[in-house]
Amino acid sequence: MSDRLLGASVDLLATAVLLLDRRLVIRDANVAAETLLGLSRRALVGVVFPTLFSEMKGLEDQLRATIDAERGFWDNDVRLLRVNREPLHVNCLGSPVDMSEASVLLELRKIEQQVRIEREALQLTQSQANRELIRNLAHEIKNPLGGLRGSAQLLEHELDRPDLREYTQVIIKEADRLQVLMERLLTPHRVPTFAGVNIHEVCERVRSLVLAEFPRGIRIRRDYDTSLPDIEGDREQLIQAVLNVTRNAAQALLGPAGAGWLESFGGSGQITLRTRIAWGATIARERHRLALDLQVIDNGPGIPTEMVDRIFYPLVSGREGGTGLGLTLAQTFIQHHLGMIECQSEPGRTVFRCLLPIGSRAAVR
Ligand SMILES: Nc1ncnc2c1ncn2[C@@H]1O[C@H](COP(=O)(O)OP(=O)(O)O)[C@@H](O)[C@H]1O
Ligand SMILES: [Mg+2]
Repeated sequence: MSDRLLGASVDLLATAVLLLDRRLVIRDANVAAETLLGLSRRALVGVVFPTLFSEMKGLEDQLRATIDAERGFWDNDVRLLRVNREPLHVNCLGSPVDMSEASVLLELRKIEQQVRIEREALQLTQSQANRELIRNLAHEIKNPLGGLRGSAQLLEHELDRPDLREYTQVIIKEADRLQVLMERLLTPHRVPTFAGVNIHEVCERVRSLVLAEFPRGIRIRRDYDTSLPDIEGDREQLIQAVLNVTRNAAQALLGPAGAGWLESFGGSGQITLRTRIAWGATIARERHRLALDLQVIDNGPGIPTEMVDRIFYPLVSGREGGTGLGLTLAQTFIQHHLGMIECQSEPGRTVFRCLLPIGSRAAVR
């Protein structure tokens, strides 16, 4: 094993510290770096740092600039993508060092869970405000639509030139189309009826519905933790929520982008329904002792980066013929269960994760 370049006390730090040479080869790493990267020091030393990741956005350039210009950098939002593993979300501090064996000292700090919690809370407020806005707007549009349609009909009866009907028909048809859209936006959400629900029954139902709709081209794997207890929930709403998410995954896999993507590496479309238990999950500012962690994972092309922050908003759709209401509804239903839904996406791996509290809502804070 190579000699330590970093002093032993660096192992006491909670921050991951790496020493890289001019070619970005790792020359030393502390214990926190081993933990963060999931590799021992022995495995890390000698490896070209960027090769650990499938993508690291601008970090490699920043490291090279640090070496060339001997000037440090600070980046508080770096996503490091790894093959078959969860992406790492970190902030980075790079400093030039003047050692014969090393040229950059790199510090990585995992972005605190706190930041994630705050972001979720913000999302919750935003999504509620959005829904309210949409509802009010839909109401305002819906009311005059009736008058518009009725007047066009009356006008049609009065017209003595039949060729002018073409125009009144356009008004009537478009008013009807808008009416349907407004109805969808306003769907009065049935008050949920809560009872014991087995999440695997929900998953199985969704699985068979989606396989019936898309009989070819996708596999739906089950990865269940069968020891999970029932949750208190509204079965129909949960089925609808999981169905909307799973159907999107199937559509992404079988749509034009998905077909091209799978063909590019000769893969086949796969969706995984995974259930796990989560201890001490914080959902919408509340801490729950026990939660259900349900993930719908697909190996499709992923959600375009410019869209990913908005997909839960109403009317946001990246699909020909989409309404952009599927995920909004799924989110509403999950929130009825005091849960939350979030999404992480990169090409080849899109994960929709629902956290649903199990049992009492007793806060353990
Ligand atoms: N698993 C997925 N992979 C890729 N894109 C997705 C996935 N899930 C959702 N999306 C994107 O999010 C958009 C919004 O989904 P949704 O709210 O269900 O509306 P719709 O399906 O009517 O478009 C989809 O149109 C699609 O572009
Ligand atoms: Mg949809």
